[in-house]
Formats: sequence, C-alpha cells, structure tokens
Amino acid sequence: MSKVTLAEGVFYVGAVDWDRRLFDSLIPLPDGTSYNSYLVKGSEKTALIDTVDPTMTDVLMSHLNQVGVKKIDYVIANHAEQDHSGNLPNILERYPEAKLVCTPRCKDFLVDLLMIPEGKFITVNDKETISLGNRTLEFIHAPWVHWPETMLTYLREDKILFPCDLFGSHLATNELFVTDEGRVYEAAKRYFAEIMMPFWSNIQKHLERLKSYPIDIIAPSHGPVHNKPEFILKAYRSWVFDEPKNIVVLPYISMHGSTQKMVRHLVEALTERGVTVKQFDLTATDLGKLAMALVDAPTVVLGVPTVLAGPHPNVAHAVFLANALRPKLRFASIIGSYGWGGKTVEMLSTMMPNLKVEVLPPVLCKGFPKEADFKALDDLANTIAQKHKENKFT
Ligand code: FEO
Repeated sequence: MSKVTLAEGVFYVGAVDWDRRLFDSLIPLPDGTSYNSYLVKGSEKTALIDTVDPTMTDVLMSHLNQVGVKKIDYVIANHAEQDHSGNLPNILERYPEAKLVCTPRCKDFLVDLLMIPEGKFITVNDKETISLGNRTLEFIHAPWVHWPETMLTYLREDKILFPCDLFGSHLATNELFVTDEGRVYEAAKRYFAEIMMPFWSNIQKHLERLKSYPIDIIAPSHGPVHNKPEFILKAYRSWVFDEPKNIVVLPYISMHGSTQKMVRHLVEALTERGVTVKQFDLTATDLGKLAMALVDAPTVVLGVPTVLAGPHPNVAHAVFLANALRPKLRFASIIGSYGWGGKTVEMLSTMMPNLKVEVLPPVLCKGFPKEADFKALDDLANTIAQKHKENKFT
C-alpha cells in the first residue's frame, strides 16, 4: 500500500492478493483481489474491522505491527465468510483481551466454522453502537448481502462506512483509494454480478436505508476504498433499480458448425433490428463476463447443440449459473441443432425456475440450418425487437 491512512487514527491493515485467480473454486479473478481489514483507534478503545484470508495471516500481523497496535479491544466481524473471518482465531490468540462483535446469526456461523468459544462474543442488534471514546461504531444489520448474517459498520464521527463485501471489487492494487474509475467500475460490476446480483431486491432496501447516513468514505473488504462514494453508490443504484436495456445475451456452444451458423444469423438479424447483442462462446468465455452481461439484459438466447438427447453440458452449466444469479431477465429462447431428436428445450426450461421469464418460441433444426430455419430465426429476432420496444428497453 502506498498509503495506509483513511483518516487520522483509521488505518488499512489488510492484504492484497495479486496472484489469486479463482474464488470459491468457481469465480475467475482476472485482476486478483484484496482482503481489507481496518484498524480504528479511539481515545479509549481500539477496534479491528474484519480480518483477512487465512493465506495472508503474516501480512495482517505485519501491518498491525507497522501501525503500532499493542491492544485491540474489539474485533468487528461484519461477515462470517472465511476470506474475512479466517484470521479471527489468530487475532483472538494474539490479542486475548479482545471481544468479538457481530450479529447473533454471525456468532452461530463463527462457532460452527471456526470453533470460536462462546465467551469471546458480544452480539449487537441493528443500530446498536459501541463507543471507542471519541469515536462511535454503529452496526447496521444487512441480512442477505450476500449471507444471512451480514452487517455494515458505520464510524459516525468520520462518516466512514465499512460494508464488508457490499460495494467491493475483486481488484488487486497498491493504491488505497480509487484512482482509475473505469477499471474499478468494471471490477465492481463483475463483483456485483457474481456475488450480489441474486440479492438485488434486498440491496434496494439497504440502499434506501443508507440514505440517512452521511458518508464520506466507503471502505469495503475487497478492492480499493471509495473516497468519492457517490461513484459506487450511483453504480449500485443503476444495477439494482434501473430497467434492463435493449440487449440480448447469447451464450452458445457449437460442435460441428450448425449452431454457430444459427447464432451468426440471429446476431445479424438482431443487429439489423437495432438490438445490442453480447455473444459468448462457452468453450472459451470468462463466466464473470457472462454474469456481467446479465446485469443489464432483459433477454437471453441459448445457442445449444444436442448431446446424448439433451443440451450440451457447457450450456447446462451456464444456465444453472444464470438461474442461481437471478438476473432481471424477462425473456428467454433457445436455438440450436440436433441429429436424431432429444429433449434439449424441455430439459433447459426446467433448469431455470428462478428466472421469471417468458419463453419465446425456440428454433431447433435437424442437422445444418436451412431456409425455413433462417426464416424462423428472423421471426425470433422480430419478436425480441418487438418485446424490447413494447417494454421500452432502450
Ligand atoms: Fe468476501 Fe462473502 O466474502
């Protein structure tokens, strides 16, 4: 870190993980990540807000040495997931007088996950406060962002919000504050799509609640700190409140070229009708980019060949993921080819119960697509363009 001070007496003590390339053994991290931990010194008490991933213990301890902390009174656990909580046992061992502050639900998780003794905890209610002397920490319960136990911590006197995962980004950088807004926007949108999107309606409520808190700094637990918080607040407002745009997301697989031919034709037809298309070859795409595209899109068209009487497994994987991420999709369709039959459409349709979509007529062809199939793709493009127009998706 080129700088470690957010405000006088408020320090960054986290760890940057430049080389990590996968999170939860699932999520690609093309730009690495960081696990942000913060130390707040009051006139009477000192608090540590969240810790770091278990792989980064030495970095956290070294940073605590650098800021000269001899005693920690409170360790605030905003969230129980191990990339933030994993070093709680080490911190409690090194600072045995410290009490662990969290929501009641978080306490249950931490006992289960990390076997922390019950006597170490202070559980706090929504809007409860703890005094550090000249500073006050207020705790804002924020369940289902993205786990059920989560809370945000607000440092009143300095107007700093510590929201843990919310407003975060998987982005390794040695700059404490956001400098390159374009890069951070991309990383934060990817993060939102992969982690927060399933909870977008909950986040709407939390954004409304946060309006009553004056905020000068947002210090999340991944990625750089926002000293111009309106940048990330505005981005989140657009992701959770805005209507989808005039976009079709088109993830596809092609084995021998038939489905690819159909995809190309449909993309051309949609382009002629003024619809933006985001096409993803699922043999090579970064699933994070696909997730990002789903943030703004009302329509997904799956390009899928039939394998052993069902959808190609790579498409099934993408549909499973999209169903779990619960984007604001309104319409879906399926195009592709088969050799001798199968239940591709039926099987894919049952895999997306969370997506409240109207299924538009699929276009499945036997073998290579022919004139009638291209005509059906043109009809599908007409239908999509019309639906977008009727719904004012621009
Ligand atoms: Fe960054 Fe949900 O942990």
